[in-house]
Amino acid sequence: MNKSYFEEVIQQTDAYKRYGKIHRVVGLMIESKGPEASIGEVCMIHSPAREQAPMQAEVVGFHNENILLMPYQEVIHISPGSLVEASGGPMKIHVGRGLIGSVLDASGRPLDGSRLPRGLKEYPTIQEPPNPLSRPPVREPIQVGVRAVDSLLSVGKGQRIGIFAGSGVGKSTLMGMIARNSSADLNVIALIGERGREVREFIEHDLKEEGLRRSIVVVATSDQPALMRVKGAYTATAISEYFRDLGYNVNLMMDSVTRFAMAQREIGLATGEPPTTKGYTPSVFALLPKLLERTGSSTHGTITAFYTVLVDGDDLNEPIADTVRGILDGHFVLDRKLAEQGRFPAINILKSISRVMKQMVSEDHARAASQLRSHLATYEENRELIQIGAYKKGSSRDIDESMAYYPRLVEFLKQDVYEPAGYERSVQDLKGLFE
Ligand SMILES: Nc1ncnc2c1ncn2[C@@H]1O[C@H](COP(=O)(O)OP(=O)(O)OP(=O)(O)O)[C@@H](O)[C@H]1O
Ligand SMILES: [Mg+2]
Repeated sequence: MNKSYFEEVIQQTDAYKRYGKIHRVVGLMIESKGPEASIGEVCMIHSPAREQAPMQAEVVGFHNENILLMPYQEVIHISPGSLVEASGGPMKIHVGRGLIGSVLDASGRPLDGSRLPRGLKEYPTIQEPPNPLSRPPVREPIQVGVRAVDSLLSVGKGQRIGIFAGSGVGKSTLMGMIARNSSADLNVIALIGERGREVREFIEHDLKEEGLRRSIVVVATSDQPALMRVKGAYTATAISEYFRDLGYNVNLMMDSVTRFAMAQREIGLATGEPPTTKGYTPSVFALLPKLLERTGSSTHGTITAFYTVLVDGDDLNEPIADTVRGILDGHFVLDRKLAEQGRFPAINILKSISRVMKQMVSEDHARAASQLRSHLATYEENRELIQIGAYKKGSSRDIDESMAYYPRLVEFLKQDVYEPAGYERSVQDLKGLFE
């Protein structure tokens, strides 16, 4: 560190503190006169009771020369005239290898209240996506460890997938399987807007110790302020970006991007944005691509991302589902009918697609996959006829074949939660079905 370094620091240092005063509080929104602060900047609100730690809030807008703040915590111990101090910058988190194996809150601190390990680096949570021209294309498959996915919906390093599903059809179980079985170097798992009870359940039952050992979990439960649920998504994405910069192949799993959108809607409505489709505000549709484009591949490493989207019934045209599907490079649809029949993982192969699979896999692999799809499609189309016995064997060669293959295909697609499945083996087994 030479002299010019210090000179630079001194030049950049804000020599005086900027304060403002609380003017009014309406619902989630805190209005204050001053300080001069820009959008996204973190401010500290000092309570009149000295012993209380200052409360953190973020600038989300302006109104008649007042600044609009949204709190990171529940609003307590503030009163008219409470001092607001500008911190000078947006929220930063601390990242490093020491975080692997830990469970963090939305601001990147350990959820159990313990201290962060030493040797971490300060890192901003909001970043620009990699330049589209410098993004390497997705070319190399990554092992997901789920047979149906590796063989029929092959995922590439740096691909971004939406998992569309209703409640209770196996999203968490599937994410746990991917975290335990995948060949990625690290999993970053963001639990956004889940019920508190589910967090522990996910970590203990789905992820297990073996999964947690190679994961970082970021949690913002449904009872947290909307801003923290949004931040949780940014924090998890930033952690993934940090490791991608180090050359890692990262798996980012976000459950759910719908809850992220709902939290942003809450913020939008509170700051006075007009509701548009289904009450979602314009900023939701502006921020979704910004969030989802940050993952994928860069010149250093890759972030393969899985975003769950909540859908009611089969309605994939709901605005969030529709927007997300348009941005990502593939979608898996989890089907309640399959779950009800106990056919887990309940991935509806015919409705799911991996948009980069063709460019990645060998010709005979692709051929076997399309053979399976066509048998499955033929069977599903004629399922009712077959099941009520109205179909006469011999009337159609296609249907006869699909009927012969069907039980084997169903068996192939089923996978127990703790049944491991390697990529090569799954592809081999797929080809084996038709040999
Ligand atoms: N591969 C599987 N094998 C056997 N059972 C499974 C499998 N996947 C899911 N299940 C069953 O489905 C149930 C629901 O799964 P899970 O909790 O993963 O769903 P979810 O979509 O995360 O639900 P929620 O919407 O409540 O978060 C589980 O309790 C489990 O019994
Ligand atoms: Mg779940």
